[in-house]
Amino acid sequence: MITSSITFSKFVSIVTVSSILLFSHSIALAQNKVQLSVDTSKPGPKIDRNVFGQFAEHLGYGVYEGIWVGTDSKIPNTRGIRNDVVAALKALKVPNVRWPGGCFADDYHWRKGIGTRSVTLNPNWGGVIEPNTFGTHEFMDFIDQIGSEAYISVNVGSGTPQEAAEWLEYLTAAQPTSLAKERATNGHPAPYKIPMLGIGNESWDCGGNMTPEYYLRQLTIYSRFVRNYNPAQRDKDQMQKIAVGPGGGEARWTEWTDTIMKAWEKRQWSWDMQGLSVHNYTVINWGNKFSSVGFGEKEYGQILKETLKMEDLVNKHSAIMDKYDPQKKIALIVDEWGSWYAPLPGSNPGFLVQQNSIRDAILAALNLNIFARHADRVRGANIAQMINVLQAMIMTDKEKMVLTPTYYVFKMYLPFQDATLIPVTFDACTYTNGDITLPRVDAIAAKDTSGKLWLELTNLDPNNAVEIEASFIGMNANSATGQTLTAGKVDSVNTFEAPNTVAPKPISAKVQGGKLAIKLEPKSVTVVSL
Ligand code: AHR
Repeated sequence: MITSSITFSKFVSIVTVSSILLFSHSIALAQNKVQLSVDTSKPGPKIDRNVFGQFAEHLGYGVYEGIWVGTDSKIPNTRGIRNDVVAALKALKVPNVRWPGGCFADDYHWRKGIGTRSVTLNPNWGGVIEPNTFGTHEFMDFIDQIGSEAYISVNVGSGTPQEAAEWLEYLTAAQPTSLAKERATNGHPAPYKIPMLGIGNESWDCGGNMTPEYYLRQLTIYSRFVRNYNPAQRDKDQMQKIAVGPGGGEARWTEWTDTIMKAWEKRQWSWDMQGLSVHNYTVINWGNKFSSVGFGEKEYGQILKETLKMEDLVNKHSAIMDKYDPQKKIALIVDEWGSWYAPLPGSNPGFLVQQNSIRDAILAALNLNIFARHADRVRGANIAQMINVLQAMIMTDKEKMVLTPTYYVFKMYLPFQDATLIPVTFDACTYTNGDITLPRVDAIAAKDTSGKLWLELTNLDPNNAVEIEASFIGMNANSATGQTLTAGKVDSVNTFEAPNTVAPKPISAKVQGGKLAIKLEPKSVTVVSL
């Protein structure tokens, strides 16, 4: 199949463990059928549910108003946390939430957010008042309410190893230390579980402008002294320490990854890490960013082309990691990713408020598929950010709430959490608009823990439907049912007034002669089970 596809193709693009995408420009225009082969006899690695993680920073209306309304609010809440948001996030089975930042984390002093609160400022994001009413206990209550787990980022930039070590003792000590007793006095006698710990954030930039060597010294110290004392977190449940990793693919960033990984390979007993982070936003022109609303097909294609660079970035840093860690013990954690557009007119520019369209839904699917295809190394990711900030799941305005197209993609991808990647081979064909050429189709397959096969199919072409003809090795399929997400225009969004403009619809298809035929609407994300 691959050989015959090559005959028709102009270029062979991405070759990964599980998929081969063959682009064919001229054929694609004429060809509305894409052949796809799913080989269930060769299961791949597990798609770690943590790649569906979220990021919640004290930024704009991300935490205050988005999560926290306070116990006196008229908005229905449980201990100050809004019930509508909790219900929506619960349905997403969010595996982990990264908090309190971002750049905010390296300005955060946890003691100001327990007991009697100190009012401070948020110099990174609009210079507004930070009341610290949402602190450690409120965050832990929030993740408990949504059924998630904590990914805490400790302050390396303006904090000290002692401050971070004491925070972790406060959170996790089971024995009656002074800090554990203080935690009990503040309402939580039992130790908290902290499965993931970020040691700093963007230490090469807002986190302190450090060189890789300087950061490495910090990492070894924090890694040694910031301990998790929770007796329930031993051995395989031990806390994952995640080092600050690169913020791009250029030489500066490859040097960063190389420095950390080389040191890790030669490490002494006294320090360790389990993950290396990477940040990558989809943004074109930081000085004059694209708009999240009112754009056309050109900008649709440009943004999707930009987002596909995630593949190269992951390949590049994975290759460096493979040099020092061929057994892939260290996870690559993409703990900030997503679209970053110009602030919506009239909003505070420091609040990073943007709309979320079908373009973002497709962008999300493409990135999640890249993570899945690299499941052996990419074992965590956090979309930026959960509510009201950047590529959000949810937008709120006082008592109103709306779910974004990206929310629906995360919901449709639920079956892929902890599922086993199944190789898919296909001729992606191409979609071209002016000087932008994109693969027309993207796809992944996986078997969930109950053995059911799931297929994700993305049609990037905003104008033409595409027929998929899928064949299966190692299983007999009868029919397919699932959901598809599409919209009338490339810039279609959900608003408080029209919340269901971009919402999933049911889709089904029959299998005949062992082959599944399914039609994908233009600019759509489809997930079906077989
Ligand atoms: O997500 C917004 C900001 O982007 C984060 O605070 C920072 O880590 C990154 O630069």
